[in-house]
Amino acid sequence: MTKTVFIETYGCQMNEYDSELVRSILKKENYEIVTDELGADIVMLNTCTVRDNADRKVVNRVHEIKNRRKPDPVLVGILGCMATNFKTKLLEDPNLGIDFIAGPDSYKQLPKLISEVTQSGDKSFDITLSEFETYSDISPSRDEGVNAWIAIMRGCNNFCTFCVVPYTRGRERSRDPESVVDEVKRLVSAGFHQVTLLGQNVNSYRHDATDFADLMAMVSDVPGVERIRFTSPHPKDFPSKLLRLMADRPNICKQIHLPLQAGNTRVLDKMNRTYTKDEFLALVDEIRATIPGISFSTDIIVGFPTETAEEFEDTVDVVRRVRFDSAYIFKYSERPNTLAARRLKDDVSEEEKTRRIVVLNELQRAISLEKNRDYIGRVERILIEKDSTKKSDMDCQGRTDSNRIVIIPKSDYRIGDWVTVTITDATPNVLKGMPI
Ligand code: 5AD
Ligand code: SF4
Repeated sequence: MTKTVFIETYGCQMNEYDSELVRSILKKENYEIVTDELGADIVMLNTCTVRDNADRKVVNRVHEIKNRRKPDPVLVGILGCMATNFKTKLLEDPNLGIDFIAGPDSYKQLPKLISEVTQSGDKSFDITLSEFETYSDISPSRDEGVNAWIAIMRGCNNFCTFCVVPYTRGRERSRDPESVVDEVKRLVSAGFHQVTLLGQNVNSYRHDATDFADLMAMVSDVPGVERIRFTSPHPKDFPSKLLRLMADRPNICKQIHLPLQAGNTRVLDKMNRTYTKDEFLALVDEIRATIPGISFSTDIIVGFPTETAEEFEDTVDVVRRVRFDSAYIFKYSERPNTLAARRLKDDVSEEEKTRRIVVLNELQRAISLEKNRDYIGRVERILIEKDSTKKSDMDCQGRTDSNRIVIIPKSDYRIGDWVTVTITDATPNVLKGMPI
Protein backbone atom coordinates (compact mmCIF):
# COMPACT_ATOMS: atom_id res chain seq x y z
CA MET A 1 0.00 0.00 0.00
CA THR A 2 1.27 3.50 -0.81
CA LYS A 3 2.44 5.34 2.26
CA THR A 4 1.86 9.06 2.62
CA VAL A 5 4.59 11.43 3.79
CA PHE A 6 4.38 14.97 5.11
CA ILE A 7 7.64 16.99 5.25
CA GLU A 8 8.02 20.20 7.21
CA THR A 9 11.12 22.35 6.70
CA TYR A 10 12.91 24.57 9.22
CA GLY A 11 15.91 26.87 8.84
CA CYS A 12 17.81 27.95 5.76
CA GLN A 13 17.24 27.74 2.02
CA MET A 14 19.59 24.77 1.81
CA ASN A 15 17.06 22.87 3.92
CA GLU A 16 14.24 23.94 1.56
CA TYR A 17 16.30 22.52 -1.28
CA ASP A 18 17.08 19.33 0.65
CA SER A 19 13.38 18.76 1.34
CA GLU A 20 12.82 18.94 -2.42
CA LEU A 21 15.52 16.28 -2.85
CA VAL A 22 13.87 14.10 -0.22
CA ARG A 23 10.46 14.44 -1.90
CA SER A 24 12.02 13.35 -5.17
CA ILE A 25 13.82 10.36 -3.58
CA LEU A 26 10.64 9.19 -1.85
CA LYS A 27 8.36 9.68 -4.86
CA LYS A 28 10.63 7.38 -6.88
CA GLU A 29 10.01 4.72 -4.24
CA ASN A 30 6.24 5.17 -4.57
CA TYR A 31 5.63 7.22 -1.47
CA GLU A 32 2.94 9.84 -1.84
CA ILE A 33 3.81 13.35 -0.64
CA VAL A 34 0.89 15.04 1.11
CA THR A 35 0.36 18.57 2.36
CA ASP A 36 -1.80 17.65 5.35
CA GLU A 37 0.10 16.50 8.41
CA LEU A 38 -2.94 14.82 9.97
CA GLY A 39 -3.46 12.55 6.99
CA ALA A 40 0.15 11.40 6.71
CA ASP A 41 1.50 7.96 7.67
CA ILE A 42 4.97 9.43 8.13
CA VAL A 43 5.89 12.94 9.30
CA MET A 44 9.43 14.19 8.69
CA LEU A 45 10.85 17.39 10.11
CA ASN A 46 13.85 18.72 8.22
CA THR A 47 15.60 20.57 11.00
CA CYS A 48 17.98 23.41 11.79
CA THR A 49 20.21 23.57 14.87
CA VAL A 50 22.07 26.81 14.25
CA ARG A 51 20.63 28.41 17.39
CA ASP A 52 19.06 27.00 20.53
CA ASN A 53 15.60 28.36 19.66
CA ALA A 54 15.65 26.38 16.39
CA ASP A 55 16.07 23.16 18.40
CA ARG A 56 13.29 24.11 20.79
CA LYS A 57 10.86 24.78 17.95
CA VAL A 58 11.35 21.28 16.58
CA VAL A 59 11.11 19.57 19.98
CA ASN A 60 7.80 21.38 20.63
CA ARG A 61 6.56 20.40 17.22
CA VAL A 62 7.37 16.71 17.79
CA HIS A 63 5.35 16.77 21.04
CA GLU A 64 2.48 18.46 19.24
CA ILE A 65 2.44 15.87 16.43
CA LYS A 66 2.64 12.95 18.85
CA ASN A 67 -0.13 14.33 21.09
CA ARG A 68 -2.47 15.11 18.24
CA ARG A 69 -2.05 11.72 16.62
CA LYS A 70 -2.66 9.55 19.70
CA PRO A 71 -3.35 6.63 19.41
CA ASP A 72 -2.63 6.87 15.70
CA PRO A 73 0.75 5.18 15.10
CA VAL A 74 2.29 7.89 12.92
CA LEU A 75 6.03 7.53 12.24
CA VAL A 76 8.10 10.60 13.02
CA GLY A 77 11.53 11.17 11.49
CA ILE A 78 14.07 13.92 12.09
CA LEU A 79 16.16 14.98 9.09
CA GLY A 80 18.89 17.57 8.71
CA CYS A 81 21.19 19.35 11.09
CA MET A 82 19.61 18.29 14.40
CA ALA A 83 20.09 14.67 13.35
CA THR A 84 23.86 15.04 12.97
CA ASN A 85 24.16 17.39 15.94
CA PHE A 86 22.32 15.28 18.52
CA LYS A 87 22.86 11.91 16.86
CA THR A 88 21.20 8.90 18.46
CA LYS A 89 20.45 10.90 21.62
CA LEU A 90 17.35 12.03 19.73
CA LEU A 91 16.19 8.43 19.38
CA GLU A 92 17.00 7.56 22.98
CA ASP A 93 14.73 10.26 24.42
CA PRO A 94 11.55 8.38 25.42
CA ASN A 95 9.61 11.65 25.74
CA LEU A 96 10.16 12.42 22.08
CA GLY A 97 9.35 9.03 20.56
CA ILE A 98 11.21 9.64 17.31
CA ASP A 99 11.36 6.62 14.97
CA PHE A 100 14.20 7.41 12.60
CA ILE A 101 16.81 10.06 11.91
CA ALA A 102 18.80 10.93 8.78
CA GLY A 103 21.58 13.51 8.42
CA PRO A 104 22.03 15.82 5.40
CA ASP A 105 24.16 13.30 3.49
CA SER A 106 21.92 10.26 4.11
CA TYR A 107 18.73 11.11 2.27
CA LYS A 108 19.20 8.37 -0.32
CA GLN A 109 18.98 5.91 2.60
CA LEU A 110 15.53 7.16 3.69
CA PRO A 111 13.48 4.43 1.94
CA LYS A 112 15.69 1.80 3.61
CA LEU A 113 15.47 3.51 7.02
CA ILE A 114 11.69 3.70 6.80
CA SER A 115 11.29 0.07 5.82
CA GLU A 116 13.60 -1.01 8.65
CA VAL A 117 11.40 0.75 11.21
CA THR A 118 8.21 -0.48 9.61
CA GLN A 119 9.36 -4.08 9.42
CA SER A 120 11.24 -4.51 12.67
CA GLY A 121 9.69 -1.80 14.80
CA ASP A 122 13.25 -0.85 15.82
CA LYS A 123 14.41 2.72 15.48
CA SER A 124 16.74 3.38 12.55
CA PHE A 125 19.32 6.02 11.75
CA ASP A 126 21.98 7.15 9.29
CA ILE A 127 23.98 10.21 10.20
CA THR A 128 27.19 9.51 8.31
CA LEU A 129 28.69 12.56 6.64
CA SER A 130 30.14 12.12 3.18
CA GLU A 131 33.04 13.81 1.45
CA PHE A 132 31.44 13.23 -1.94
CA GLU A 133 27.64 13.28 -1.82
CA THR A 134 26.31 16.24 -3.84
CA TYR A 135 22.98 14.70 -4.96
CA SER A 136 23.79 15.88 -8.48
CA ASP A 137 22.02 12.76 -9.82
CA ILE A 138 18.73 13.67 -8.12
CA SER A 139 16.34 16.10 -9.71
CA PRO A 140 14.55 17.87 -6.84
CA SER A 141 10.77 17.79 -6.75
CA ARG A 142 9.99 21.50 -6.71
CA ASP A 143 6.78 23.33 -6.01
CA GLU A 144 5.73 25.63 -8.79
CA GLY A 145 6.78 29.22 -8.39
CA VAL A 146 9.20 31.72 -9.84
CA ASN A 147 12.36 30.80 -7.97
CA ALA A 148 14.25 27.52 -7.94
CA TRP A 149 17.02 26.83 -5.42
CA ILE A 150 20.08 24.95 -6.66
CA ALA A 151 22.73 23.73 -4.25
CA ILE A 152 26.07 24.06 -6.01
CA MET A 153 28.08 22.87 -3.05
CA ARG A 154 27.50 21.29 0.34
CA GLY A 155 29.24 21.50 3.71
CA CYS A 156 31.60 24.10 5.12
CA ASN A 157 35.30 24.15 5.97
CA ASN A 158 35.43 27.57 7.59
CA PHE A 159 34.85 26.68 11.22
CA CYS A 160 33.65 30.07 12.37
CA THR A 161 33.93 29.43 16.09
CA PHE A 162 30.23 30.08 16.86
CA CYS A 163 28.88 27.86 14.09
CA VAL A 164 27.74 24.27 14.23
CA VAL A 165 27.31 23.86 10.46
CA PRO A 166 30.78 22.39 9.72
CA TYR A 167 29.87 19.62 12.22
CA THR A 168 26.31 19.04 11.02
CA ARG A 169 26.92 19.26 7.27
CA GLY A 170 30.49 18.08 7.05
CA ARG A 171 33.24 18.97 4.62
CA GLU A 172 32.94 21.23 1.61
CA ARG A 173 32.35 19.60 -1.77
CA SER A 174 31.35 21.21 -5.06
CA ARG A 175 29.02 19.92 -7.69
CA ASP A 176 30.05 19.32 -11.28
CA PRO A 177 29.32 22.58 -13.22
CA GLU A 178 27.80 20.70 -16.15
CA SER A 179 25.18 19.16 -13.86
CA VAL A 180 24.34 22.64 -12.51
CA VAL A 181 23.98 24.07 -16.02
CA ASP A 182 21.82 21.10 -17.10
CA GLU A 183 19.58 21.66 -14.10
CA VAL A 184 19.26 25.36 -14.94
CA LYS A 185 18.28 24.48 -18.52
CA ARG A 186 15.60 22.09 -17.25
CA LEU A 187 14.32 24.76 -14.87
CA VAL A 188 14.02 27.32 -17.66
CA SER A 189 12.05 24.79 -19.75
CA ALA A 190 9.82 24.13 -16.73
CA GLY A 191 8.96 27.84 -16.57
CA PHE A 192 11.10 29.06 -13.64
CA HIS A 193 12.19 32.69 -14.07
CA GLN A 194 14.81 32.85 -11.36
CA VAL A 195 17.47 30.54 -9.97
CA THR A 196 19.29 31.02 -6.66
CA LEU A 197 22.61 29.22 -6.33
CA LEU A 198 23.18 27.98 -2.79
CA GLY A 199 26.21 27.10 -0.73
CA GLN A 200 27.45 27.69 2.82
CA ASN A 201 30.25 29.69 1.25
CA VAL A 202 29.79 29.99 -2.51
CA ASN A 203 33.20 31.65 -3.02
CA SER A 204 34.81 28.35 -2.09
CA TYR A 205 33.09 26.63 -5.01
CA ARG A 206 35.68 24.82 -7.10
CA HIS A 207 35.36 21.89 -9.47
CA ASP A 208 38.59 21.13 -11.34
CA ALA A 209 39.45 24.47 -12.98
CA THR A 210 35.96 26.00 -12.58
CA ASP A 211 35.56 28.56 -9.78
CA PHE A 212 32.39 30.31 -8.62
CA ALA A 213 32.69 33.25 -11.04
CA ASP A 214 33.15 30.79 -13.94
CA LEU A 215 30.08 28.86 -12.83
CA MET A 216 28.04 32.09 -12.58
CA ALA A 217 29.11 32.99 -16.13
CA MET A 218 28.01 29.54 -17.36
CA VAL A 219 24.63 29.85 -15.63
CA SER A 220 24.15 33.40 -16.88
CA ASP A 221 24.78 32.17 -20.45
CA VAL A 222 21.88 29.70 -20.32
CA PRO A 223 19.24 31.13 -22.67
CA GLY A 224 16.07 32.20 -20.88
CA VAL A 225 17.44 32.63 -17.33
CA GLU A 226 15.98 35.96 -16.33
CA ARG A 227 17.27 36.41 -12.79
CA ILE A 228 20.18 34.79 -10.95
CA ARG A 229 20.86 35.24 -7.25
CA PHE A 230 23.29 33.45 -4.94
CA THR A 231 23.80 33.02 -1.23
CA SER A 232 26.05 33.26 0.72
CA PRO A 233 29.49 34.56 -0.12
CA HIS A 234 32.11 35.00 2.65
CA PRO A 235 33.68 38.47 2.93
CA LYS A 236 37.15 36.93 3.34
CA ASP A 237 37.51 35.91 -0.31
CA PHE A 238 35.01 37.79 -2.48
CA PRO A 239 36.54 37.65 -5.98
CA SER A 240 36.82 40.86 -8.04
CA LYS A 241 36.22 38.68 -11.10
CA LEU A 242 32.71 37.92 -9.80
CA LEU A 243 32.01 41.62 -9.22
CA ARG A 244 32.95 42.49 -12.81
CA LEU A 245 30.75 39.69 -14.08
CA MET A 246 27.83 40.90 -11.93
CA ALA A 247 28.27 44.42 -13.29
CA ASP A 248 28.29 43.13 -16.89
CA ARG A 249 25.43 40.67 -16.84
CA PRO A 250 21.87 42.03 -16.73
CA ASN A 251 20.48 38.67 -15.57
CA ILE A 252 22.62 38.59 -12.39
CA CYS A 253 20.69 40.50 -9.72
CA LYS A 254 22.43 43.49 -8.21
CA GLN A 255 22.09 42.23 -4.68
CA ILE A 256 24.56 40.61 -2.29
CA HIS A 257 24.04 38.95 1.07
CA LEU A 258 27.33 39.65 2.83
CA PRO A 259 27.42 38.32 6.42
CA LEU A 260 29.25 40.77 8.70
CA GLN A 261 28.73 38.85 12.00
CA ALA A 262 30.55 41.53 14.05
CA GLY A 263 32.17 44.92 13.48
CA ASN A 264 35.07 44.69 15.91
CA THR A 265 38.35 43.25 14.65
CA ARG A 266 39.23 41.47 17.91
CA VAL A 267 35.78 39.84 18.01
CA LEU A 268 36.02 38.90 14.32
CA ASP A 269 39.33 37.24 15.10
CA LYS A 270 37.80 35.30 18.02
CA MET A 271 35.04 34.26 15.62
CA ASN A 272 37.70 33.04 13.14
CA ARG A 273 36.16 35.17 10.39
CA THR A 274 39.64 36.02 9.02
CA TYR A 275 38.87 39.62 8.02
CA THR A 276 39.10 42.89 9.91
CA LYS A 277 36.62 45.72 10.27
CA ASP A 278 38.61 47.79 7.77
CA GLU A 279 38.85 44.94 5.28
CA PHE A 280 35.07 44.49 5.41
CA LEU A 281 34.52 48.22 4.83
CA ALA A 282 37.05 48.23 1.98
CA LEU A 283 35.28 45.29 0.34
CA VAL A 284 31.95 47.13 0.51
CA ASP A 285 33.61 50.17 -1.12
CA GLU A 286 35.08 48.01 -3.88
CA ILE A 287 31.71 46.35 -4.52
CA ARG A 288 29.93 49.72 -4.66
CA ALA A 289 32.57 51.14 -7.00
CA THR A 290 32.17 48.18 -9.38
CA ILE A 291 28.38 47.83 -9.13
CA PRO A 292 26.83 51.22 -8.32
CA GLY A 293 23.44 50.93 -6.62
CA ILE A 294 24.04 47.36 -5.38
CA SER A 295 21.82 46.23 -2.48
CA PHE A 296 23.35 44.62 0.59
CA SER A 297 21.86 42.39 3.23
CA THR A 298 23.78 40.91 6.14
CA ASP A 299 23.82 38.64 9.20
CA ILE A 300 25.00 39.93 12.57
CA ILE A 301 25.53 38.21 15.92
CA VAL A 302 25.37 40.28 19.11
CA GLY A 303 26.88 39.21 22.42
CA PHE A 304 29.53 36.82 21.14
CA PRO A 305 31.57 35.67 24.20
CA THR A 306 33.92 38.42 25.48
CA GLU A 307 32.37 41.12 23.21
CA THR A 308 32.38 44.29 25.34
CA ALA A 309 29.84 47.10 25.08
CA GLU A 310 32.58 49.21 23.51
CA GLU A 311 33.44 46.57 20.94
CA PHE A 312 29.74 46.23 20.09
CA GLU A 313 29.87 49.94 19.11
CA ASP A 314 32.10 48.86 16.19
CA THR A 315 29.20 46.77 14.88
CA VAL A 316 26.93 49.80 15.23
CA ASP A 317 29.57 51.85 13.40
CA VAL A 318 29.78 49.40 10.48
CA VAL A 319 25.98 49.27 10.21
CA ARG A 320 25.89 53.10 10.13
CA ARG A 321 28.65 53.35 7.56
CA VAL A 322 27.61 50.55 5.21
CA ARG A 323 23.87 51.26 5.45
CA PHE A 324 22.80 47.70 4.61
CA ASP A 325 19.43 47.47 2.89
CA SER A 326 18.40 44.82 5.42
CA ALA A 327 19.95 42.79 8.22
CA TYR A 328 19.22 39.59 10.13
CA ILE A 329 20.41 40.15 13.69
CA PHE A 330 20.79 37.31 16.18
CA LYS A 331 21.75 36.92 19.83
CA TYR A 332 24.73 34.62 20.25
CA SER A 333 23.55 31.14 21.13
CA GLU A 334 26.14 28.69 22.42
CA ARG A 335 26.26 25.51 20.34
CA PRO A 336 27.76 22.41 21.94
CA ASN A 337 31.11 21.26 20.50
CA THR A 338 31.86 24.44 18.56
CA LEU A 339 35.22 26.05 19.26
CA ALA A 340 33.55 29.01 20.97
CA ALA A 341 31.64 26.69 23.30
CA ARG A 342 34.80 24.76 24.16
CA ARG A 343 37.07 27.76 24.67
CA LEU A 344 34.96 30.73 25.70
CA LYS A 345 32.38 31.32 28.40
CA ASP A 346 29.00 32.64 27.18
CA ASP A 347 29.62 35.70 29.34
CA VAL A 348 27.42 38.43 27.87
CA SER A 349 24.22 38.50 29.92
CA GLU A 350 20.83 37.89 28.33
CA GLU A 351 19.79 41.46 29.25
CA GLU A 352 22.86 42.90 27.54
CA LYS A 353 22.29 40.76 24.44
CA THR A 354 18.72 42.06 24.36
CA ARG A 355 19.94 45.65 24.72
CA ARG A 356 22.35 45.21 21.82
CA ILE A 357 19.84 43.53 19.52
CA VAL A 358 17.29 46.29 20.20
CA VAL A 359 19.86 49.01 19.42
CA LEU A 360 20.80 47.38 16.13
CA ASN A 361 17.26 46.51 15.09
CA GLU A 362 16.12 50.10 15.67
CA LEU A 363 19.06 51.51 13.75
CA GLN A 364 18.60 49.08 10.88
CA ARG A 365 14.84 49.74 10.73
CA ALA A 366 15.49 53.44 10.32
CA ILE A 367 18.11 52.82 7.61
CA SER A 368 15.87 50.34 5.76
CA LEU A 369 13.01 52.85 5.87
CA GLU A 370 15.18 55.68 4.53
CA LYS A 371 16.55 53.48 1.75
CA ASN A 372 13.08 52.22 0.84
CA ARG A 373 11.72 55.77 0.83
CA ASP A 374 14.36 56.65 -1.77
CA TYR A 375 12.49 54.28 -4.07
CA ILE A 376 9.27 56.34 -4.00
CA GLY A 377 8.68 57.71 -7.49
CA ARG A 378 11.07 55.26 -9.14
CA VAL A 379 10.01 52.93 -11.93
CA GLU A 380 10.85 49.27 -11.22
CA ARG A 381 10.34 46.03 -13.09
CA ILE A 382 9.01 43.42 -10.69
CA LEU A 383 8.50 39.69 -10.98
CA ILE A 384 5.19 38.55 -9.44
CA GLU A 385 5.80 35.73 -6.92
CA LYS A 386 2.60 35.50 -4.88
CA ASP A 387 -1.02 36.05 -5.94
CA SER A 388 -2.06 37.49 -2.59
CA THR A 389 -0.46 38.99 0.49
CA LYS A 390 -0.76 38.15 4.18
CA LYS A 391 -3.03 41.15 4.61
CA SER A 392 -5.19 41.13 1.49
CA ASP A 393 -6.55 39.01 -1.35
CA MET A 394 -6.93 42.18 -3.38
CA ASP A 395 -3.15 42.62 -3.64
CA CYS A 396 -0.32 40.55 -5.04
CA GLN A 397 3.41 40.58 -4.38
CA GLY A 398 6.49 40.82 -6.56
CA ARG A 399 10.18 41.54 -6.15
CA THR A 400 12.59 44.07 -7.58
CA ASP A 401 16.00 43.11 -8.94
CA SER A 402 17.39 44.36 -5.59
CA ASN A 403 15.20 41.77 -3.81
CA ARG A 404 12.72 44.25 -2.34
CA ILE A 405 9.14 43.09 -1.93
CA VAL A 406 6.59 45.26 -3.78
CA ILE A 407 2.85 45.03 -3.10
CA ILE A 408 0.55 46.02 -5.99
CA PRO A 409 -3.20 45.78 -6.64
CA LYS A 410 -3.88 42.29 -7.93
CA SER A 411 -5.70 42.98 -11.21
CA ASP A 412 -5.21 40.00 -13.60
CA TYR A 413 -1.58 39.34 -12.77
CA ARG A 414 -0.34 35.80 -12.40
CA ILE A 415 2.69 34.34 -10.65
CA GLY A 416 5.65 34.71 -13.03
CA ASP A 417 4.37 37.87 -14.76
CA TRP A 418 6.71 40.84 -15.19
CA VAL A 419 5.07 44.15 -14.26
CA THR A 420 6.51 47.65 -14.57
CA VAL A 421 5.42 49.76 -11.60
CA THR A 422 5.94 53.16 -10.06
CA ILE A 423 6.80 52.93 -6.36
CA THR A 424 4.25 54.90 -4.37
CA ASP A 425 4.95 54.12 -0.72
CA ALA A 426 7.49 52.45 1.57
CA THR A 427 7.83 50.81 4.99
CA PRO A 428 11.08 49.34 6.39
CA ASN A 429 10.18 45.93 4.94
CA VAL A 430 8.10 46.47 1.81
CA LEU A 431 7.36 48.88 -1.01
CA LYS A 432 3.98 49.64 -2.53
CA GLY A 433 3.59 50.16 -6.25
CA MET A 434 1.19 51.08 -9.03
CA PRO A 435 1.46 49.35 -12.42
CA ILE A 436 2.05 51.69 -15.36
N1 5AD B 1 24.44 31.99 17.51
C1 5AD B 1 23.78 32.99 16.88
N2 5AD B 1 23.74 33.12 15.55
C2 5AD B 1 24.39 32.20 14.81
N3 5AD B 1 24.52 32.06 13.47
C3 5AD B 1 25.27 30.96 13.23
N4 5AD B 1 25.63 30.38 14.38
C4 5AD B 1 25.08 31.13 15.38
C5 5AD B 1 25.12 31.06 16.81
N5 5AD B 1 25.77 30.09 17.44
C6 5AD B 1 23.99 33.03 12.51
C7 5AD B 1 25.10 33.65 11.67
C8 5AD B 1 24.90 33.02 10.33
C9 5AD B 1 23.41 32.80 10.30
C10 5AD B 1 22.92 31.81 9.32
O1 5AD B 1 23.12 32.36 11.62
O2 5AD B 1 24.86 35.04 11.61
O3 5AD B 1 25.32 33.83 9.26
FE1 SF4 C 1 28.94 28.59 9.69
FE2 SF4 C 1 30.98 30.25 9.05
FE3 SF4 C 1 30.50 28.03 7.56
FE4 SF4 C 1 28.79 30.12 7.48
S1 SF4 C 1 30.95 30.15 6.81
S2 SF4 C 1 28.24 27.91 7.67
S3 SF4 C 1 28.85 30.88 9.58
S4 SF4 C 1 31.15 28.06 9.71
